[in-house]
Amino acid sequence: MPLRSVVLGCGAYLPRRIVTNEELATRVDTTDEWIVQRTGIKQRHVAAEGEFTSDLALAAARDAVAHAGIGVDEIDLVIVATATPDNTFPATATRVQHKLGMARGFAFDVQAVCSGFVYALGVADNFIKSGQVKTAVVIGAETFSRILDWTDRQTCVLFGDGAGAVVLRGEEASERGILSTHLHSDGDNYDLLYVDGGPSSTGTVGHLRMEGRKVFVHAVQRLAEVVEEALSAQQLTARDIDWLVPHQANKRIIDGVGKKLGLDAAHVVVTVDRHANTSAASIPLALAEAVHDGRIKRGELVLLEAMGGGFTWGSALIRW
Ligand code: COA
Repeated sequence: MPLRSVVLGCGAYLPRRIVTNEELATRVDTTDEWIVQRTGIKQRHVAAEGEFTSDLALAAARDAVAHAGIGVDEIDLVIVATATPDNTFPATATRVQHKLGMARGFAFDVQAVCSGFVYALGVADNFIKSGQVKTAVVIGAETFSRILDWTDRQTCVLFGDGAGAVVLRGEEASERGILSTHLHSDGDNYDLLYVDGGPSSTGTVGHLRMEGRKVFVHAVQRLAEVVEEALSAQQLTARDIDWLVPHQANKRIIDGVGKKLGLDAAHVVVTVDRHANTSAASIPLALAEAVHDGRIKRGELVLLEAMGGGFTWGSALIRW
């Protein structure tokens, strides 16, 4: 049995303020019916003024550390997956490391937009398997409300703020843990989903821009491929999967992947209706919900998948 990264605990944080579709319909030309029908989204959480990505990340990390039952002195590595850092630099993860009370270890951000959590999990897993790190906190945290064009109905209805986290620990000869991660990117479609600002290009923060229909088509294709890749790498079939925990962008994309795998809808974790698309935070938020409410149990096989701007896409298979 190999050294594996076992998930010791999960955590989550959502800002208090909820913005419903009805409220959005008072600001842009949209309806609750259109949003629900096209995306499955009914509401989203929005960070308060002065509430930063690091605040969300810290709350989720504390929740995960408490659930894992470990001390902060045991943590060697903090990774924050985010496309909405507090500042252009330093890494938001260093602020989280400090506020957690860590006096050692190292911390950095990973930027792969909506695939960020799966990427960060892959990075942490490799640090653990190489023996360089024993315990890692992997966080997905976003304040997409800050980069939305609130006058653009094609994008502002789709996203929300939040954070989720997991604690990983390397365990020898373990049947449990991350079995494999599979990461991909292709910059050919950079302009289909991007932010029209940045420190090196415009010197502004910019707003999210997206060609939704084209992104949809790519997402369905790429996610089907990467799920297949994960299963065949482990010589497993879709029947072996107990839980699909997908990136929460759109209910129709989630249903499409679930159907392709032949999974009963009851075994697909869905939060997009309440959280909308929280980018890198969506998978750890969904994981925390399904673990804390008792759906995901020890020993079960959990498949994560995500796709985001870049494009980036990836999957992770975990024996819980
Ligand atoms: N409310 C009402 N009407 C809207 C609207 C809104 N919020 N947003 C767009 N529309 C209109 C469009 O203007 C268009 O009108 P027209 O036919 O008069 O031109 C019509 O609805 C259809 O727009 P279209 O963009 O073709 O709709 P769609 O069925 O593709 O759904 C998305 C749009 C964005 C929901 C869908 O393409 C999607 O989910 N794409 C993937 C996005 C995603 O997941 N991105 C993140 C990946 S990490």
